[in-house]
Amino acid sequence: IDEKLALPVGVTLDRFIKWNQQDFPFATGELSQLLRDIALAAKIVNREVNRAGLVDITGASGAANCQGESQQKLDVIAHIRFMRALTNGGEVAGIVSEEEEEILYTGNDQARYVVAIDPLDGSSNIDVNVSIGTIFSIYRRISPLGTPVVLDDFLQGGTAQIAAGYVLYGTSTVLVYTTGRGVNGFTYEASLGEFFLSHPMIRTPEDGAIYSVNEGNLPAFPGGIRTYIDRCRERNYAARYIGSLVGDFHRNLLKGGIYLYPPTAKAPQGKLRLLYECYPLAFLNEQAGGAASNGFQRLLEVPAQSVHQRCPLYIGSPRMVREVEEA
Ligand code: AHG
Ligand code: MN
Ligand code: MN
Ligand code: MN
Repeated sequence: IDEKLALPVGVTLDRFIKWNQQDFPFATGELSQLLRDIALAAKIVNREVNRAGLVDITGASGAANCQGESQQKLDVIAHIRFMRALTNGGEVAGIVSEEEEEILYTGNDQARYVVAIDPLDGSSNIDVNVSIGTIFSIYRRISPLGTPVVLDDFLQGGTAQIAAGYVLYGTSTVLVYTTGRGVNGFTYEASLGEFFLSHPMIRTPEDGAIYSVNEGNLPAFPGGIRTYIDRCRERNYAARYIGSLVGDFHRNLLKGGIYLYPPTAKAPQGKLRLLYECYPLAFLNEQAGGAASNGFQRLLEVPAQSVHQRCPLYIGSPRMVREVEEA
């Protein structure tokens, strides 16, 4: 990774995006605009999340999503906010969201990009004031411009992503993303309404001493995974699991560690969704020097067959992920 790509800490996200774009001689600026649209929606969702306890937007919405999960009110609000920003922004032709069974057509048939999104990750943590997030993945469409998007635009596979990232609504709100040339993190300054570069060119440690897994499911895990978890305990690794993938991932990215969501008898493909949870974090983590696997192969190379497909996930410091694959 080219060191000159690191801009000084403190520049705004807008400036960073503009400067980054100048480095692509043929860039048209559309991807830059799309990233700004995502940042705008993130600010709006951040506002909603922050006042959630004061207005009546915590709790269940009463509906279920297509995966049978009870939708929380904030799941729906975040979904709507991102859909609006991406539709009105004009750069996105179609969207796949966790909260909508079918592809969403924005009507921007001239737009070059499609987005897969988990608008609000960690729903179970909303009502208890624990960090939640948003995860996004961007592809250049393969269907002709001027026509509606097609399913194959979303099923190009993890290596075809041109950008991916997440927003973590935590003790502070951060936006972390990659366009395939390293990973940069920006912290939100609410009084100024701006994201500032706070984590330039993130590199994840080669190895770590944190393991993050829902150990309540241990009896149902494959033997190799139980062996690996035993080793983590023998080595006195720290167990850290908050149940928001974005939060667990972000911590391990910075500190070194591994996040595991293995298959179980009840959920043979695990719980996490390939397009808007696994692929984007796998791309970003590789860009930071980390690794991601489904237990057998590089996660980015797991073929996509449907938009809400699930996939086992082992992601984190490369040495830890290799050890899981060998266990
Ligand atoms: P979402 O809230 O977007 O549906 O995602 C939930 C995911 C993820 O955030 C988290 O890591 C995982 O579910 C936790 O699952 P368990 O409660 O089964 O551990
Ligand atoms: Mn959900
Ligand atoms: Mn999620
Ligand atoms: Mn979600």
